[in-house]
Amino acid sequence: MHIELSEEQLLLRDSVRQFAEEVVKPRAKEIDETGEFPRQFFAQAGELGLAGVAVPEEYGGAGMDPLSYSIVIEEISRACASSGVILSVNNSLACDPILKFGTEDQKQSYLKPLARGQMLGCFALTEPEAGSDPAAIRTSAVRQGEEYVLNGNKVFITNGTDADIAIVFATLDREKRHKAITAFIVPADTPGYSHGTHEYKLGVNASGTTELSFADMRIPVNQRLGGEGEGFKVAMSALDGGRLGIASQAVGIAQVAFEEALAYSRQREQFGHPIVDFQAIQFYLADMSTEIDAARLLTWKAAWAKGSGRRFSLEAAQAKLFASEMAQRVTSKALQIHGGYGYVREYNVERYFRDARIAEIYEGTSEIQKMVISNWVIENS
Ligand code: CAA
Repeated sequence: MHIELSEEQLLLRDSVRQFAEEVVKPRAKEIDETGEFPRQFFAQAGELGLAGVAVPEEYGGAGMDPLSYSIVIEEISRACASSGVILSVNNSLACDPILKFGTEDQKQSYLKPLARGQMLGCFALTEPEAGSDPAAIRTSAVRQGEEYVLNGNKVFITNGTDADIAIVFATLDREKRHKAITAFIVPADTPGYSHGTHEYKLGVNASGTTELSFADMRIPVNQRLGGEGEGFKVAMSALDGGRLGIASQAVGIAQVAFEEALAYSRQREQFGHPIVDFQAIQFYLADMSTEIDAARLLTWKAAWAKGSGRRFSLEAAQAKLFASEMAQRVTSKALQIHGGYGYVREYNVERYFRDARIAEIYEGTSEIQKMVISNWVIENS
């Protein structure tokens, strides 16, 4: 089994790391505090090909593979977790479904600008009463001639405050649950479309999370993404890629927390020694580095499975489940190594601890990942 990165992937990792260190990291603390959406970062990322990493070049992307995508999200999240999820959502939840289910016209009109970072995408699935159970959404779509009329509300939409395009999921008939869900590509300047203000959150505070509302929004039939009733499949297959992105984000957050804890343990002296000399700290560092490597390998396996072209729901769910819970444990240990300094805002580690928490919740909670994994292993073993 070959698990080394190729020359091209190593080059990508180094150049993205440099961009992240020079451009993304210096603003991470400030945008966490203010909640400002880093639109300039997104445009710069787009110029570097990071807004559509695995989108073919003919549609405005960088034409790379899913493992390259994972590397990009890890490196950006190592500098700023908000920026990591902004990019992950644009790549996985906006570009991917158009690439997979879109018509040629939709790819030309919407995928190209999204993949180039000229437009920002969001994914409008979750509703106040439909989070883990998206088959229960209430946003309605009623066909009237060559248009659909959409009405409803969405919540917790990452990138929602700044998105130019939303992938919106609506139902043609609530009784039919997932079989009636239909996806639409909706430009944010469509009459009837509006968004709320930015939600202040525990972590990833600059990711533009907000509500969306649709009031008698008229969407032409040619903006339907996939067929009538195919929307649930569009959402679920996009979320498989999204979960790979969130696993990569969790690895990036854990990696930087580990690096800063190691550096701190070398310079912090107690009892006349740097604390790295104490076995308690050494064992923390051993556990942290082992868990990060395990999570990264599961994440790379999910990327490889995506690249094979087959359904990879199992690998994506396993990677997200393990990597997100790992990031919680690793950032907690990193905070513990920092002692009292870990608990104050002067150091970054409390931010990493807060940022890591969401990875166990969005794009399917840990409990949902366990449902996906157990269903798969019970049916296929
Ligand atoms: N790919 C393709 N098709 C899929 C699929 C996938 N990954 N998963 C399910 N399907 C298909 C099934 O094959 C089935 O098809 P048929 O009708 O042809 O048999 C159909 O979809 C229904 O599948 P289920 O019966 O398994 O559906 P369910 O209602 O029991 O739900 C679930 C399954 C795994 C619990 C799913 O509802 C789920 O993933 N819930 C979590 C939702 C979620 O992750 N939300 C995140 C919101 S977005 C977000 O957080 C983004 C952000 O802003 C950061």
